[in-house]
Amino acid sequence: MALESPSSVESRLHSPLAIRGITLKNRIMVSPMCMYGAGLDGFATDFHVVHLGRFALGGAGLVMVEATAVEERGRISNGDLGLWNDAQIEPLARVARAVSGLGAVPAIQLAHAGRKAAISAPWNGMSPLTAEDALRGDTGWPVVGPTSTPAGTGWPTPSELSGSDIGEVIQNWADAARRAMDAGFDVIELHAAHGYLIHSFLSPISNTRTDEYGGSWQNRLRFPLELIDAVRGVMPADKVLMYRTSSVDGIEGGLSIDDTVRITDELVAHGVDVVDTSSGGVTAERSLDTRVRRGFAFHAGFSREIKQRTSALTATVGLVIDAEQAEALVREGFADIVAVGREMLNDPNWAHHTQRVLEGANYEAWRQESGWWLDKREAIIDRLLAQGETPLTLFTEAHN
Ligand SMILES: Cc1cc2nc3c(=O)[nH]c(=O)nc-3n(C[C@H](O)[C@H](O)[C@H](O)COP(=O)(O)O)c2cc1C
Repeated sequence: MALESPSSVESRLHSPLAIRGITLKNRIMVSPMCMYGAGLDGFATDFHVVHLGRFALGGAGLVMVEATAVEERGRISNGDLGLWNDAQIEPLARVARAVSGLGAVPAIQLAHAGRKAAISAPWNGMSPLTAEDALRGDTGWPVVGPTSTPAGTGWPTPSELSGSDIGEVIQNWADAARRAMDAGFDVIELHAAHGYLIHSFLSPISNTRTDEYGGSWQNRLRFPLELIDAVRGVMPADKVLMYRTSSVDGIEGGLSIDDTVRITDELVAHGVDVVDTSSGGVTAERSLDTRVRRGFAFHAGFSREIKQRTSALTATVGLVIDAEQAEALVREGFADIVAVGREMLNDPNWAHHTQRVLEGANYEAWRQESGWWLDKREAIIDRLLAQGETPLTLFTEAHN
């Protein structure tokens, strides 16, 4: 059925957004999602090309590759993608080419899991690797962190990174960023949320160091800022740098939204363009009720606060599934970009579908290989409905 088409209504969600030299055709971003599908070599496979390419085909403006490890020991799991060596560039370049060839901006999230590295895939428990996991070939490795305090009970004891270790880790981030540029990505997002290495340096819950990388918020911010400088240093000025933050720790004494606002000003001064606002994860204690309540668009308030109180552009993420809601988030100043994760898994054409809902658009934004047919099909459906038939009408008449 043709949708009501108030043709004067232009969707903000579907308006372009220019950042530095990159223009997104709309404000819809596919949120980074680990697929636990790479081999031990960290290579992207045909699966990753098809999986991520499909979102570009579905109309998303920006398609973000999952958390991709800058060091082998920084992988979340044995199935993580990696960019810790040059051989990993070409498999990811295939992803970037597929995504940009299908009209979306290719982006990649770079990550180091720190003390939360070496866990099993969700369907195997999403917890520290055990002897039982090793029987499946899923073997753990030594992890590192700002201190030797584990992420939670039963989690591995990390080695505390020394000052010179930190320099090496930062160099590895810069090398991975250079590889991401070589692979053809236009956007890099630093994974600085969910208790992984960057977040664990930032939060007073996990960073109790007494050297220049711990203590005051300025000291806790030193590692992230040095890392941002190193990454920005290998990125051409027209490329975009995003930063996924845990806006709040949700734990007494942890990072608050005021802390994150203060930090964001520094991030922007060092070349971050967009703050992608998530939350939580600083410890692995799932028994603690520290999570932000999972309502629809559950991080939107944090995004709005950061957007209003700093000069950063923001992205919001978290159970955004509805076109009108996504539109309102952008139109009403909650965020510049709406990141969508699981709903994209549910409906890779979500971006296209929201445009139909919001603008009454026909299928012209779709590739003609499908759009041409869907237009024709719609005309047939409209005619049948006008004749009083519905998809439930029993087809009782014989063909002639
Ligand atoms: C399968 C899966 C993998 C994820 N992997 C990542 C990741 O690699 N990096 C990240 O920052 N967040 C990751 N997340 C969090 C999502 O990006 C997103 O923030 C979260 O799912 C909430 O958004 P949603 O309700 O739209 O799915 C993952 C979530 C899922 C469901």
